[in-house]
Amino acid sequence: MTVIGTRKLGRTGPTTSALGLGAMGMSDMYGPADEAESIATIHAALDAGVTLIDTGDFYGMGHNELLIHDALRGRDRESVQLSVKFGAQRGPDGSWLGYDASPAATKTALAYTLRRLRTDYVDVYRPARLDPNVPIEETVGAIADLVKAGYVRHIGLSEVGAATLRRAAAVHPISDLQIEYSLISRSPEAEVLPTARELGIGVTAYGVLSRGLLSGHWTPQRELAGTDFRGHSPRFQGENLAHNLALVEALRAIAEEKGASVAQVAIAWVAGRGADVVPLVGARRRERLSEALGSVDVHLDAADLAAIEAAVPADAAAGERYAAAQMAHLDSERSEHSAPREH
Ligand SMILES: NC(=O)c1ccc[n+]([C@@H]2O[C@H](COP(=O)([O-])OP(=O)(O)OC[C@H]3O[C@@H](n4cnc5c(N)ncnc54)[C@H](OP(=O)(O)O)[C@@H]3O)[C@@H](O)[C@H]2O)c1
Repeated sequence: MTVIGTRKLGRTGPTTSALGLGAMGMSDMYGPADEAESIATIHAALDAGVTLIDTGDFYGMGHNELLIHDALRGRDRESVQLSVKFGAQRGPDGSWLGYDASPAATKTALAYTLRRLRTDYVDVYRPARLDPNVPIEETVGAIADLVKAGYVRHIGLSEVGAATLRRAAAVHPISDLQIEYSLISRSPEAEVLPTARELGIGVTAYGVLSRGLLSGHWTPQRELAGTDFRGHSPRFQGENLAHNLALVEALRAIAEEKGASVAQVAIAWVAGRGADVVPLVGARRRERLSEALGSVDVHLDAADLAAIEAAVPADAAAGERYAAAQMAHLDSERSEHSAPREH
């Protein structure tokens, strides 16, 4: 039987399962999902030893939190760590309206989240992006008030760069940084990961399958709902997609030799980047979850890592990980040595 194991999120964060479940796709971003299957998938994850569940209040505008509440009914709340993102502003049509991580918005958002999750605390609370209009010290200060009052246990961050990590950590200990990190999204390696390590901040890695592109199951024929993120993601378009799927085939040859699937090798690679990295898997069906959890039994030795690096070099992907407008919101893509942002 697969034993998931545990990891500690940073110097001050909670101990969680070595893999977390990201629930986003159960409510948003990847077209329609089946609610009963989503709940069955969360149950299967919990039963397999997954304790970390990641969500955002804007995933289906509350739907994802309500779904998680349903799935956790009758379960021991203390045995699960709920990681919640806030700050993204959206209209009723799903449009993106910017970010608000001001102290008042931060506290208000948590109040709604606690009601939807029907819990009296969140394990890790984090702004989804750096709010360009609010100094990070103010956002972290507001969450620190919520920690003091017992509503939040740990403070996390998402997609911020090294300079922001330093400023935030000077206000309050930060448990973990959530950031996209995969075989084909390696920009955190230059500055962000070394800084997180220096500051004792753990990493919850998302997009470890590059949103399904690296799963080994993606085909150019797949039909996408108009709301599917991948319909607009540069990596899934035309020639970029053909180039990227050729990388997946190179990876498949390595995976087959190891008796593993492409997805399992891709997840094992991220998990192997350090004991401070917890991959979030975005499975929304039990079959996919079971495949993803099987990655813990895949051990990559030095020869495997060299073969993987040769098949999929660090900058091999065609296309950015987000479209240009969304890339502009990523503080994580700005160098620590570039000019500071105005506030
Ligand atoms: N902080 C942030 O900015 C941020 C951004 C995005 C996500 N996240 C968090 O990270 C979590 C994971 O991200 P993600 O869903 O984009 O990443 P991912 O794990 O790279 O992609 C997940 C998608 O890959 C496909 N897939 C195919 N085979 C799979 C397998 N064996 N196991 C899992 N998925 C498989 C599924 O799509 P189909 O079901 O369509 O086949 C699934 O929805 C999210 O749920 C969310 O909690 C955070």
